[in-house]
Amino acid sequence: MPQPDSRALNPTSTVSPLVNGIEVQAGDLRERIVALRDDVLRVTYARGTSFPEDASWAVLATARHSAVPVTMETNADHFGFRTRALAVEIDRSTLQLVVRDLSDAVLQQDARPVRFDGDAFRVYKSMPRDEHYFGLGDKTGPLDRRNEAFTLWNTDAYRFQESTDPLYKSIPYFMTFRAGTALGVLLDDTWRTSFDFGKESSDIYSFGASAGPLDYYLFYGPAPRQVIETYAWLTGTPPLPPLWAFGFQQSRYSYMSQSRVLQVANRLRADSIPADAIYLDIDFQDRNRPFTVNRVAFPDIAGMVVQLKAINFHVVAITDLHIANVPAHNYFPYDSGIAGDHFVKNPDGSVFTGRVWPGPSVFPDFTRQQTRAWWGTLYRDLHRDGIDGFWNDMNEPSVFDTPNLTMPENAVHRIDEPGFAARTATHAEIHDVYGMENSRATFDGLLKLDPNSRPFVLTRATYAGGQRYAATWTGDNSSSWNHLRLATPMLENLGLSGFAFSGADVGGYAGTPSPELLTKWFEVAAFQPIDRDHTEKGTGDQEPWVGGSDQEAIRRRFIDTRYQLMPYLYTLAEEASRTGLPMLRPLFLEFPDAFADRHPIDIDNNASGEFLLGADLLIAPPPYLDERDGYSIEFPSRDWYDFWTGAKIPAPAPPSPDTSSPSVPTGPSVPLSARVTPDPAQLPVYVRAGSILPIAPVTQSTNEIPRGALTLRVYAGDNCTGEVYQDDGKTYAFQHGAYLRMKFNCQRDAEGMHLKIGSHEGSYPAWWKEIQVEIYGLSRDQDEIFVNSRRVSERIEVKSHSLSFFITDGGTGANIDVLAGK
Ligand code: GLC
Repeated sequence: MPQPDSRALNPTSTVSPLVNGIEVQAGDLRERIVALRDDVLRVTYARGTSFPEDASWAVLATARHSAVPVTMETNADHFGFRTRALAVEIDRSTLQLVVRDLSDAVLQQDARPVRFDGDAFRVYKSMPRDEHYFGLGDKTGPLDRRNEAFTLWNTDAYRFQESTDPLYKSIPYFMTFRAGTALGVLLDDTWRTSFDFGKESSDIYSFGASAGPLDYYLFYGPAPRQVIETYAWLTGTPPLPPLWAFGFQQSRYSYMSQSRVLQVANRLRADSIPADAIYLDIDFQDRNRPFTVNRVAFPDIAGMVVQLKAINFHVVAITDLHIANVPAHNYFPYDSGIAGDHFVKNPDGSVFTGRVWPGPSVFPDFTRQQTRAWWGTLYRDLHRDGIDGFWNDMNEPSVFDTPNLTMPENAVHRIDEPGFAARTATHAEIHDVYGMENSRATFDGLLKLDPNSRPFVLTRATYAGGQRYAATWTGDNSSSWNHLRLATPMLENLGLSGFAFSGADVGGYAGTPSPELLTKWFEVAAFQPIDRDHTEKGTGDQEPWVGGSDQEAIRRRFIDTRYQLMPYLYTLAEEASRTGLPMLRPLFLEFPDAFADRHPIDIDNNASGEFLLGADLLIAPPPYLDERDGYSIEFPSRDWYDFWTGAKIPAPAPPSPDTSSPSVPTGPSVPLSARVTPDPAQLPVYVRAGSILPIAPVTQSTNEIPRGALTLRVYAGDNCTGEVYQDDGKTYAFQHGAYLRMKFNCQRDAEGMHLKIGSHEGSYPAWWKEIQVEIYGLSRDQDEIFVNSRRVSERIEVKSHSLSFFITDGGTGANIDVLAGK
């Protein structure tokens, strides 16, 4: 039994008011709580004389240095203060913290005093029975972290399974959600941390670390969307990637030669499967040495890239961070790295060496600004050869021949970094930020080489804030139905944890999928932010045509749909880059009030496999993907349309008067549900009533300018809104006005529907001259169309669920009325 910490029960505690919070002292323990904003608190502890250095790899200095004045509220039992959103109390004798909203509802409270044990610490919070937990990046298991415990220690988890922990990333941030109210918690500690959501004790959740500062942030919603935006305020938004990153990406470990790469790309074009990127995995290199090229298999990389660009492919090359330890071999990354003293050391001062793909390797010391700058220069040749994207893998870091499969915890890193005191740090402290700093070095290096092109970096390992530098994927999954199912909560939790741009290897990495599994994976991934087909060495082929033309036709149809949705996807990506809101979302994020008791709908059996793409599309893969049983879909609100047919989902029949006796259930507990039969060739996708979706004609790549009209699919609801964002897809010119944004909305009244097409904002020209307006959910008699009061009589098409017509879009907007005919 751990003994209660005597310092925590010290009755002689004292308080010092601060302008933006308080500092409480009890014995040699001090607790400081400050308000960075009215809705954001920072809680830090000092053991001994001084508080930890105010430096962070995750939290932006602008956020850390923000402050708002508070009002003190201290009485005989506790010290405390109030902001304009929160009330904070610290118990005088135990230093336990309680945070309330201004209506006095408890948002969070310590269940026990903080426990210190040598360098380690643990914070305990009360766990209400109806509270749910989300975040921590792409940990496996159900979306809700309740009843689970996790360790954060970046790990190369090849072939991870449902119970594998830790995984590749450490994002020590979670969101609590209770009865519609969300709160964010970020523990900014880079050492090994752990989180227990009721596994050890059913009414307490806890978090702690093996060492490092006890420094955490609490931020209040109450809406979950607000918590995400505040997390982005603290740790940064993901920069807008190039448009092509949202196209279909084809990869494998490895396309073994230049001719094979060209063959795969040409086949995608010949088979009319839209695609934007093809990957070079480690075998394009000479003996797996990063930043080299195997000139036998790839005699002319630059020439290959030219040929690929001619058919609108972008090339992404892997550049692992381990540098082959080959002195005197004219290997520039090693020679220049040694000359610049850029590698991590052993405690005795020698350079640490560990075996990875190239054999014995050395590891850049990415927590030094100079080392990151040097790393960035290594991209010069591949960048000059026209390679557009870079893949940072194995950056946990993975090491094959050490007992812990990474660097020894006593390996010596140097922190030499603006905002930090210069010092050495053990690997135990740096491990979890190492991969993030690797991707940062890559991102910054690419920007330096070409300041006006938006980099695309894909990283496997990362830390909180890593979204500022790279997109990510979930690592080495498996080709099983279970892994296809697992990808949904993993990507949802990554999105809640700041990573708006993420994907899972389509078809699974380890193993060879059955044709049906590969097809279903293509279907689902078409609605995920990053859509990359990738597989391991030694597995069967996994390209879209594998398994026969029938399967290929289904996969093509879904990739086509992705490209039709590209204006919607890109609009979501731009939103993410401003707000941090993920593209792929759990349902409760948009519908926290789906139920009267405001529990998150995602924890219900009938909704657990569903996800949203943006606020408007609901994707409902079958929960048992390899079975053919019918299943129920639970919707988070009242009115939805079938994306494929445009039909409105019928409302449940109202309970008839004679069923109102208490023994008979009176209809479903949710507003809307549907029953579907799984079909290998179909995926249920729905659209929220009130959405306006921008849709493009299919192209074979995002480089192609779509030919034809922009389609706006208007799904009638009480009010509807939508938006489209466009820019050149490549540069930063959008930051200087070269973008195009259009907003749309509609209202319904007794007369009909009134749709407003906004004018063009920004100077980027539209690729369309006309807009095809396609309205769903009108009543049959509503077929008189007026554009700016002028009646439209041509090119009107009436289908079973829609009415469509064309308008010219000169950029000044239009008012459209669709009225009942006389
Ligand atoms: C790692 C990556 C995988 C890659 C392989 C070879 O296992 O996770 O995606 O193909 O290394 O580079």
